[in-house]
Amino acid sequence: MKKGMHNKDCTCWSCPAINLAGKVDFRACGQSVEQIKKFQDEKGGGHIMAECRRRPELGLYDPMAITFQECPEWQDTEYGYLLKNMRVMILGIDGYLGWTLALWLGKLGCKVSGIDNYSRRNWVKERGTHTVVPIARMTERLHAAKEVLGIDIYFRELDVLDKVALTEFLKEVKPEAIVHYAECPSAPYSMIDFEHAKNVQSNNVIGTLSTLFAIHEAVPESTLIKLGTMGEYGAPLTGRPLFEGFFPADAVLKWQDKEWSLGGELTPRDPVSFYHISKVQDTFNVYEACKYWWLRSYDVMQGVIYGVHTDEVAADPRLRTRFDIDEWFGTIINRFVAQAIVGIPLTLYGAGEQIRGFIALEDAMQCITRLIAKPPEPGQYGVVNQMSGYYKLRELAETVAAIGKKSFGLDVQIQRVENPRVESERHPFNPIFSKLPDEFGFVQKDNIEQEVSRMFSLLLQPNIKSRIEEKRHLILPKTWWSGQKKEVERIELYK
Ligand SMILES: NC(=O)c1ccc[n+]([C@@H]2O[C@H](COP(=O)([O-])OP(=O)(O)OC[C@H]3O[C@@H](n4cnc5c(N)ncnc54)[C@H](O)[C@@H]3O)[C@@H](O)[C@H]2O)c1
Repeated sequence: MKKGMHNKDCTCWSCPAINLAGKVDFRACGQSVEQIKKFQDEKGGGHIMAECRRRPELGLYDPMAITFQECPEWQDTEYGYLLKNMRVMILGIDGYLGWTLALWLGKLGCKVSGIDNYSRRNWVKERGTHTVVPIARMTERLHAAKEVLGIDIYFRELDVLDKVALTEFLKEVKPEAIVHYAECPSAPYSMIDFEHAKNVQSNNVIGTLSTLFAIHEAVPESTLIKLGTMGEYGAPLTGRPLFEGFFPADAVLKWQDKEWSLGGELTPRDPVSFYHISKVQDTFNVYEACKYWWLRSYDVMQGVIYGVHTDEVAADPRLRTRFDIDEWFGTIINRFVAQAIVGIPLTLYGAGEQIRGFIALEDAMQCITRLIAKPPEPGQYGVVNQMSGYYKLRELAETVAAIGKKSFGLDVQIQRVENPRVESERHPFNPIFSKLPDEFGFVQKDNIEQEVSRMFSLLLQPNIKSRIEEKRHLILPKTWWSGQKKEVERIELYK
């Protein structure tokens, strides 16, 4: 038996290449193999049969009879068994993560397709900013992927809100996994004014609803990997653990001398912006769709991503993924590095003691691949918290400053400024993030020091540095959760 393959014992029951038939009520969410077996035993067996679309010669058979390890269609890779030429569709393929994943999966032998309506490019243009790492147009990206990496990517310009067109594309491609990145990812952008809040919520919430209906109609057996955020949970001041979506079996609610089990219930969400609220609404829509229609999904509560590197995006300048540093679209570590390069003191909001979960770009790609490799069971809505560690923002600023000084000879300062957000600035933080390592075999490959050094090396290139300089006036925030528009003022500067 091969060691370390997290999905070797999975069976056709969770394989997206089979059709299921039988006398089972699949509407119950998360019906486990054990429940199904019990049902079969009680009813005399043989009630659920599988038919493999990849191996029709098998005819009708017991879906629990063949494991991924035994099936010739599932092939051994670094990240577990993967379906041969697995068809994966990426919604939001032109984005920071979408483009990186397209190349990553293409290199692994997947048949990658994707859609995008370029809204991220338009939102960035609307704010008068740009990605500081230049990115090619989609046609050039596709051409370079073929020329440099030998990867064919099947792209269609399409809005996920266009349910009819999305359904047609899904019927044509028949993806076995769908990664849904196609949302507006920015909290500050959603807080600009009513129009922006409305656009973010309708784009994200209706886009996901459209995706669910389209999958239901076109490819109900496909795995949906949906991107949520750790920000859905907030940071409870009690220090209550941030479980992975659901309370564990032994969680108990005690109240007025009575006890109730909380096991299996969705945990409370406490979103921190109109953007985060859209993700919470998605959570419920995906959860319910799995129940109603026997869809299968992993909802990924993703920590903040940082970094620029995978071997594939670094293979050619035309293959680079976007990198934003402005107040709306830059993520914090990426912004710190850019600030250090152009001599703006690294900006902490308020006390700077906020704690968040983080993961490097390449590690995030590994996690998604491992999820694709171990599909949920029919009807299963699973949640994973995806991060490799959590840090106080002040510690991160100090790490970036230290690397900037020591390895790149930069004079880096740190400043505390007024906090434009409404959030606790000092709080406990107790996230649980053991599923990806324990159940999916995730092993962190990149640490912050290594990835921050790579970022400095890339961003210090003269053409990129001058693109940061050009937009330096868009780094300090002017968007307040209160609605006012004014640049934040400095509270303290320290070396
Ligand atoms: N980057 C992070 O740190 C981070 C952290 C947590 C969660 N996430 C989530 O991960 C996902 C991807 O994030 P990202 O940083 O790559 O963002 P991104 O903006 O770079 O990528 C999203 C892509 O989706 C496209 N898109 C948006 N709405 C669309 C629509 N209606 N139809 C078609 N395409 C559409 C955009 O044009 C863009 O190319 C988002 O859902 C985001 O909320 C990101």
